[in-house]
Amino acid sequence: MFVRLTELRPVTARDTLYRFTCPAIARAALPGQFVELKLTGGCDPFLRRPISLFDADGTETFSLLVRTVGRGTEYMTGWTPGMEIDVLGPLGSGFSWETDTRDCLLVAGGIGLAPMGFLARRLLDEGKRVRLLFSPRRDAALLEALPFRERLDVSCCENRSALPAALDALLAQGADAVFSCGPEGLLESVAERAAAHGVPCQLSMERRMACGIGICLGCAIAIHTPGGVTYKKVCKDGPVFRGEEVAFHAQP
Ligand SMILES: Cc1cc2nc3c(=O)[nH]c(=O)nc-3n(C[C@H](O)[C@H](O)[C@H](O)COP(=O)(O)OP(=O)(O)OC[C@H]3O[C@@H](n4cnc5c(N)ncnc54)[C@H](O)[C@@H]3O)c2cc1C
Ligand code: FES
Repeated sequence: MFVRLTELRPVTARDTLYRFTCPAIARAALPGQFVELKLTGGCDPFLRRPISLFDADGTETFSLLVRTVGRGTEYMTGWTPGMEIDVLGPLGSGFSWETDTRDCLLVAGGIGLAPMGFLARRLLDEGKRVRLLFSPRRDAALLEALPFRERLDVSCCENRSALPAALDALLAQGADAVFSCGPEGLLESVAERAAAHGVPCQLSMERRMACGIGICLGCAIAIHTPGGVTYKKVCKDGPVFRGEEVAFHAQP
C-alpha cells in the first residue's frame, strides 16, 4: 500500500526518524513487527528493505528509526515529506507477554533500539515497570527519539564487554521478562544471562531479507528442537524468537 511520509528528522549523523500517516498500519501493528519498504518507483534497488516499527500510535501514524548503512538506506535520506511510499506490512511476529508480567527489562545495542520504542509504549500503557539497558556505542543521542523517554528507567552501558555484568545487576533486582534487539553477539549474551537468572527472554533477530513474506527462504535461522537443529524463517516465524530457541553456534 502507499503511505504518506509526513516527517523526516535526523536524530544522529547516521540515524533518521521517519513518520508516516497510515491508520491501517498504525492500528494493526504489534511491537516487534516490521515493514518492507520499496525505496524507489523503479527497479533499482530491486529488493524492499525490512525496518522495525519504532512506534505506532494505534490510530493514525507510525514511525521508523533507520540507520544509514548502504545504498538503500542512503536513498531514503533523500525522501521528502508529502511523498507516497510503497510499504508492505505489518509483517512477522511481535513480542508477547502475559497479563501478569509486571517488571520488563529491555536491552538494546545501537540501532537495536528501533523496536524498543513501540514496545515501551505498549508496556507502559499497560502499567508495567519498564527498564531499558542501552549500549549505544557512539550514538547515545538515539535515546532522544524514544517516545515516553521520561517514563523509562534508562541505564547506559558504553562498554559492550561490560554489558553482561550490567544486565546481571539489573536481573538481580528482579524481572519477569527480558526483550532484546541488537547485534547477534549481544543477543547471545542476553539470552545466556536471562537463562542463568531463570527469566524468559525474547530476541528480535535480523537476517538479510528478500521477499519478507516467507517465500524465498532467504532469511533462515538455526533453531534448537528436541531432535536437533532445524531452520525457521526470520520474516515469517520471527523476527522475535525465544532466547533458548536460537542455536547461536549453528547459524547458516
Ligand atoms: C526484521 C528486521 C528489522 C530491521 N529493522 C531495522 C530498523 O528498525 N532500523 C534500521 O536501521 N535497520 C533495520 N534493519 C536492518 C535494515 O534492514 C538494513 O540495514 C537495510 O536493509 C540495509 O539496506 P541498505 O541498502 O542501506 O544496505 P546494503 O547496501 O544492503 O548493506 C549495507 C551493509 O549492511 C549489511 N546489512 C544489510 N541488511 C542487513 C540485515 N538485515 N542484517 C544485518 N546486516 C545487514 C550488509 O551486509 C552490508 O554490510 C532491520 C532488519 C531486519 C531483518
Ligand atoms: S525473506 Fe523471503 S522467506 Fe524470509
